[in-house]
Amino acid sequence: MSYRATSAKLAARMICNSRVVASKRAMSLMARSRPTVRSTVVNAAIKPLIASRGIKQINFGGTVETVYERADWPREKLLEYFKNDTLALIGYGSQGYGQGLNLRDNGLNVILGVRKNGASWKAAIEDGWVPGENLFDVTEAVKKGTYVMNLLSDAAQSETWPTIAPLLTKGKTLYFSHGFSPVFKDLTKVEPPKDIDTILVAPKGSGRTVRSLFKEGRGINSSYAVWNDVSGKAHEKAQALAVAIGSGYIYETTFEKEVNSDLYGERGCLMGGIHGMFLAQYDVLRENGHSPSEAFNETVEEATQSLYPLIGKYGMDYMYDACSTTARRGALDWYPIFKKTLKPVFVDLYESVKNGSETKRSLEFNSQPDYRAKLESELDTIRNMEIWRVGKEVRKLRPENQ
Ligand SMILES: NC(=O)c1ccc[n+]([C@@H]2O[C@H](COP(=O)([O-])OP(=O)(O)OC[C@H]3O[C@@H](n4cnc5c(N)ncnc54)[C@H](OP(=O)(O)O)[C@@H]3O)[C@@H](O)[C@H]2O)c1
Repeated sequence: MSYRATSAKLAARMICNSRVVASKRAMSLMARSRPTVRSTVVNAAIKPLIASRGIKQINFGGTVETVYERADWPREKLLEYFKNDTLALIGYGSQGYGQGLNLRDNGLNVILGVRKNGASWKAAIEDGWVPGENLFDVTEAVKKGTYVMNLLSDAAQSETWPTIAPLLTKGKTLYFSHGFSPVFKDLTKVEPPKDIDTILVAPKGSGRTVRSLFKEGRGINSSYAVWNDVSGKAHEKAQALAVAIGSGYIYETTFEKEVNSDLYGERGCLMGGIHGMFLAQYDVLRENGHSPSEAFNETVEEATQSLYPLIGKYGMDYMYDACSTTARRGALDWYPIFKKTLKPVFVDLYESVKNGSETKRSLEFNSQPDYRAKLESELDTIRNMEIWRVGKEVRKLRPENQ
């Protein structure tokens, strides 16, 4: 597909050739690269501690929702709010790393609970956590914490629940970053005690991103939910913790909606669905005699390097508008066909999430002692597919990688 240019290219073209009157379309692209009212809201929300911002009613395409922003919880307020608390963060995988280091850098009293001598224990020490001071085994940390932030893998939450549950005494607050364990309690056996506050903050990104955005002075967007509100302060606690772990803005959901949308999204457009589409498109190009590099460029490289960033920055219509008239016409004709063909798959997928099949499968697979080795073998299959071997070579050719 030949796509024309990004707004940056258009800007450069217009500046270099000042005698050429800019086309109407280029002007419109330039104008639209300025933030709109809505993108101002979102961009401003991730700038640190702007006192004038705060709880907002925002019209999301016709539905008004409440969002909470970091400015509702400036650092001094967070320090005051959690001054008598010990935040015991259990598990040091992707989220434990991101949330734990952000809490520590925010000056809060955070300790880690990690099984001794595993990969996470070693990683925690490398990141400056000190055994006996702020690094303990899981049981000891749960005993010490007033907040127990359960960031073990979802399968491990189920496995360790019989040990952890009796330690969740009255007055503590239980925290998750995924609704998985309590929502599918018939399968996981994780049933939060009825006499303690139970809350959720789910960052919409990997723990690595939670950390990198925080370090840049930005913030991840997160959802929050309340399962049990015993103290009457569970909402406030969740909002405060969301900011403390590095969220820029937060919107409310329920545990059920969080888990259903999350499992559905990652199996769909975020990971499984997009991978399936890449493979199908690449196969057909190869079957029709296209070279590996051409097939990869027309399927993945142009998508991730040129077009998807435009969707992320300015929206789908902007991306269409930045492409050639030929590309636009074809995409406008074909997207309804893809939608119609794929929607039944998405309907099946949502049902499979909602009825617990996906949870059952995930628990069964990830509880096996050799789950890491099995996962590695499946990832190796992906790594060795022609398309992704080609990708490795294509990435090396990017000027910045030479
Ligand atoms: N990753 C994401 O992008 C993401 C995004 C949003 C929400 N979440 C949610 O955040 C939570 C944590 O996810 P994650 O991806 O950070 O976790 P993860 O990487 O899957 O978690 C691994 C942690 O669990 C520990 N663990 C595994 N089995 C254990 C066992 N039997 N006993 C004790 N510890 C055990 C590991 O310790 P060892 O190193 O010792 O094995 C490690 O510290 C989950 O609920 C997840 O759904 C994740």
